[in-house]
Amino acid sequence: QRATVSLNTHRTISEISPLIFGGFAEHMGRCIYEGIYDPGSPLADENGIRQDVVAALKETNYRIMRYPGGNFVSGYRWTDGIGPRDQRPRRRALAWRSIETNQFGPHEFMDFARQIGTEPMWAVNLGTGSIQDAADLVEYMNLPTGTVYSDMRAKNGHAEPFGVKYWCLGNEMDGPWQIGQMDAVSYADKAVQAAKLMRWTDPTIKTIACGSSATAMASYPEWDMTVLDRTYGHIDYFSMHHYAANPYPTISNNEGLPLDTDSYLASSLHFVEHADTLAAAIRLAKAKNRSKRDVYLCWDEWNVWYRAKGGDGEWSEAPHILEEEYNLEDALVVATWLNTFLNKSDVVKIACIAQIVNVIAPIMTRKDAMFKQTIFYPLTIFSNTASGYALDPLVRSPLRDTKRYGAVPQLDVSASFDPQNGQGAVFLVNRSQTEPLTVQVCWEDEGPQSLTRGWQMSGNDPFASNSFEKPDNVIAHEITLPQLEGRALTVQLPPLSFTAFTT
Ligand code: AHR
Repeated sequence: QRATVSLNTHRTISEISPLIFGGFAEHMGRCIYEGIYDPGSPLADENGIRQDVVAALKETNYRIMRYPGGNFVSGYRWTDGIGPRDQRPRRRALAWRSIETNQFGPHEFMDFARQIGTEPMWAVNLGTGSIQDAADLVEYMNLPTGTVYSDMRAKNGHAEPFGVKYWCLGNEMDGPWQIGQMDAVSYADKAVQAAKLMRWTDPTIKTIACGSSATAMASYPEWDMTVLDRTYGHIDYFSMHHYAANPYPTISNNEGLPLDTDSYLASSLHFVEHADTLAAAIRLAKAKNRSKRDVYLCWDEWNVWYRAKGGDGEWSEAPHILEEEYNLEDALVVATWLNTFLNKSDVVKIACIAQIVNVIAPIMTRKDAMFKQTIFYPLTIFSNTASGYALDPLVRSPLRDTKRYGAVPQLDVSASFDPQNGQGAVFLVNRSQTEPLTVQVCWEDEGPQSLTRGWQMSGNDPFASNSFEKPDNVIAHEITLPQLEGRALTVQLPPLSFTAFTT
C-alpha cells in the first residue's frame, strides 16, 4: 500500500499556538498529592516537590497548566489553600469523595508552575462559589498590594502579583455530577457576571467559558450555542472536553461492548467533527452579537479515559482513582489528536491533556520511582518539534473500513514549518493493524536541506503498555533517517505506528 503527502511551506492552516501543548493538574486522586507534592518521597526537594516528576514535565514542555480542577473546583474555597500550612483546614472534597488537606494551594502551585516553566490557567468555582469569590481571587493573584486580598498575598509571602492571565469560568457546569450544575442560561448569566467582576478587577485577563462536558451529552451542542450567544462579549475562549475510548461511548456504560480497535484508531474523525461544530457555533454567535472579536477554542480536557472510571475516593487522602494504564493504541490515538490540533490550529488555540501525573496521565509515580506511559512519547515529541505554522497537507491515502466511521484514510498526517528558524516537522500515523504503508512526502516549494531527527513507535500488540517493572516496553525510538531524494522522501510505516521527522 502507498500514500503520498504534498507539503508547501506557503500553504498554511494557521500559526500554531504554543498553548496547545498544555496540561491539567487537579486536586484529585494522586495528581497533586503523591504526584507533584510528596514530602515523604526521597525524590522530593525541601518543599516536597517531586524532582523526577518536574524533570519529566519539563521534558514534555507544557506551555500552560490548568488548575485546580476539574470537578474539584466547583466545591473549592480558595482561601483554604493559603496561609500557614498547619492552620489550613482538612475538608471533604465532595466531587471525588476524598479528603483535601490543603497542604498544596495557590502559592505552592505558582512555585511549581515556575519550576516547570509553564503559564498557569486558573479555574474559578462557579458551583458553590460566588462571583465575588471569583473577583477576590483575581485580586489576590494579580493586583499590586494596597487592598485586602493583595495585602493578604503579601502577608503570605508573595508581595509581587502572580499575574495569572488565563481564567476558566467554572468547570463542566452542564453535568449532573457537577457541584452546582446549572442549565445553559443560568450558567451563561453567572459566567457573564463573574467575568465582568473579574475583568473590572484586572482588565488584562483572558476568560474561558464552559462548553459541553462531552459530545455525548443530550444537551450538546444546544448548550454550546446558548452559552456562546449569551457570553460572547465577555469571553476570549470557549472550552471543549472529550475523552476517547475503546469501545465507544464514554459517558454511558461501555462495559460489555466489544473492543473495536479499527474504529478507535479513527477517533480523530470525531475530534475534527467536534472542533468543526464548535467553530461553527462560534461563527454564528459572533454574527448574532454583531461582534468584531474572535473567540477561540480551548480544548482544556482531552485524553483517553475509559478503563479506570470509578471516581470514589472513599473519604481518603490521595486515593488511587482514575489510574488509567495506557497502551500502544492509546498512544496512536493521542498522536492523531495532536495531528487534529495542528490541522485545526486556526480555531484551537489552547489544549490541556487531562491530566499530568497519576490521574489519567502520561507519567505514574510511587514513593521511590516514576515511569512514563505510552502516551508520554507522542505528546513530548509534538510539543518539542511542532512550531511556527501548521501546513495544509494534500494527502492521498488508501481507505480502510471501520464499523463506526465507515471508510477512513489509513494514514493520518500533520506538518509544521517555522519560518523563524527554518525548522519543519512531519507527523504520520499508520492506523492499520495489519498493513504497512509506504509514504512519499513531497515538498512542492523548496524542500528541506536535510532531515535532522526521526522517531517511531510501533508494535504488534495494540494493548502493550509500560509499568514500573517494564518501563520501556513501548517507547518512541530514534530511527535512521530516510534519504531525501531532491524534494521528496520515502518512508516505510509499519502497521500500528506513529512516526515523526524534523527537517
Ligand atoms: O479529568 C477528570 C475529570 O473529568 C474532571 O475533573 C472533570 O472536569 C471531567 O469530568
